[in-house]
Amino acid sequence: MKVRAFIALVATGLFLTGAVAQTLNEDEIKERIMPVGKVKIAGAVDATAAVAGPRTGEQIYQAACTACHAVGVLGAPKTKVAADWQPRLDEKGYDLVWKNAINGINAMPAMGACGDCTDDDIKSAIDYMIEGI
Ligand code: HEC
Repeated sequence: MKVRAFIALVATGLFLTGAVAQTLNEDEIKERIMPVGKVKIAGAVDATAAVAGPRTGEQIYQAACTACHAVGVLGAPKTKVAADWQPRLDEKGYDLVWKNAINGINAMPAMGACGDCTDDDIKSAIDYMIEGI
């Protein structure tokens, strides 16, 4: 008895769902799917904003500095190696080290050759390289 009642209930549910779907005309269907499209567009805009927004020091470093600073190409101070960075920071001070990265020094290209970096981006990348030393 209980099983029959359950089957009847499910059958009614399916019937009603089908009936609703069949009574929708084209405009109603468009209206129903529109919010889904809007959500997708909103998501895409968000993703673009995330890419265009401020980058972290690590992201800038990975994009523009790691090629030389990971292994010390041409004598570049190696990332997170205190022995490479500390003497520079002690001798020149942070601001001059930052300025030298902006203007270039010896084999270090101006702005690390990062075409779309701001002065603050360079600072973030330096902070990442000397973090924890
Ligand atoms: C083409 C290789 C190369 C790239 C790419 C590069 N550097 Fe350098 N960098 C060097 C070299 C070589 C030195 C050492 C220069 C010297 O003191 O003779 C250096 C030194 C530095 C110094 C120390 C400056 C000082 O006054 O002691 C900083 C800070 C620095 N780089 C930051 C960066 C940042 C930030 C990036 C990425 C945006 C970057 N570099 C990308 C090669 C590079």
